[in-house]
Amino acid sequence: MVTASASSPATGQLAGRRVIVTGAARGIGAAIATTFAEQGAHLALLDRESERCAETAALLGAHSFAVDLGDPASATSVTTAAIDALGGIDVLVNNAGILLFAPLLEITVHDWDRTFDVNVRSMLLTTQVVARAMIASGTKGAIVNMASMGGKVGSPRQAHYAASKAAVISLTRVSAMELGPHGIRVNCICPGYVLTEMGAATRTTEMVAEWSSHSPLGRCAEPEEVAEMALFLASDQGRYCTGQAMNVSGGMVMH
Ligand SMILES: NC(=O)c1ccc[n+]([C@@H]2O[C@H](COP(=O)([O-])OP(=O)(O)OC[C@H]3O[C@@H](n4cnc5c(N)ncnc54)[C@H](O)[C@@H]3O)[C@@H](O)[C@H]2O)c1
Repeated sequence: MVTASASSPATGQLAGRRVIVTGAARGIGAAIATTFAEQGAHLALLDRESERCAETAALLGAHSFAVDLGDPASATSVTTAAIDALGGIDVLVNNAGILLFAPLLEITVHDWDRTFDVNVRSMLLTTQVVARAMIASGTKGAIVNMASMGGKVGSPRQAHYAASKAAVISLTRVSAMELGPHGIRVNCICPGYVLTEMGAATRTTEMVAEWSSHSPLGRCAEPEEVAEMALFLASDQGRYCTGQAMNVSGGMVMH
């Protein structure tokens, strides 16, 4: 739920920082946007759900941009427009993603490509636009990508999703290697199960209980708990972290 007030405080861990969050209309992205606004960030929210994105943005005093990040030309042009609206860029959070279910033998080329277009290629394109702007302005910024524990350990009926999230981890590492000399840090987050709208249509109480049993903490995550890790990585607190894939999985994954 988005509850922050419209004006960003002048103090906080992200005071005055100009931030793009993708997939921010709802779920983890909205929680990140809310947490960042509470810490003084100036925000541009990108999402394909235009109305909901605008509603979330209005609550946070943020700019809102409707975009299908799976379309490469739109991803590039809207990211450029968001940087212009913010007057520069300090932080990019690549959070937007999709989860499709199918057994390995039934995955279609269409669904494989769509998963990689949205979950991985969009991150490359937004990173290119943002990193060029940071380098041109000498900004020592931060980029946070949303991976998944599925990218480390896989999950049945999610080969396309898990492979795309493994690609996010790899993209994050190489981005960190190449952008580090410019003072730009790049990390990703590997959440466990977060009870958002993603996958909600097929989720049962029994499934949630089963997932929870895999965590030593005995529960799934709240979106805000992922947002706190994003805040750490985006802020100066994480200033010596780069190229990392940080688990927020309640101990379901420990490597
Ligand atoms: N929920 C989980 O258990 C979980 C676990 C691990 C990783 N993740 C990752 O966290 C991120 C956020 O997930 P969530 O649970 O909040 O999901 P969600 O489905 O609730 O939200 C995803 C947001 O991304 C937007 N989006 C999707 N495709 C888009 C596109 N082509 N262009 C623009 N916007 C698009 C959606 O409109 C939505 O607002 C995703 O990358 C997801 O893979 C989620």
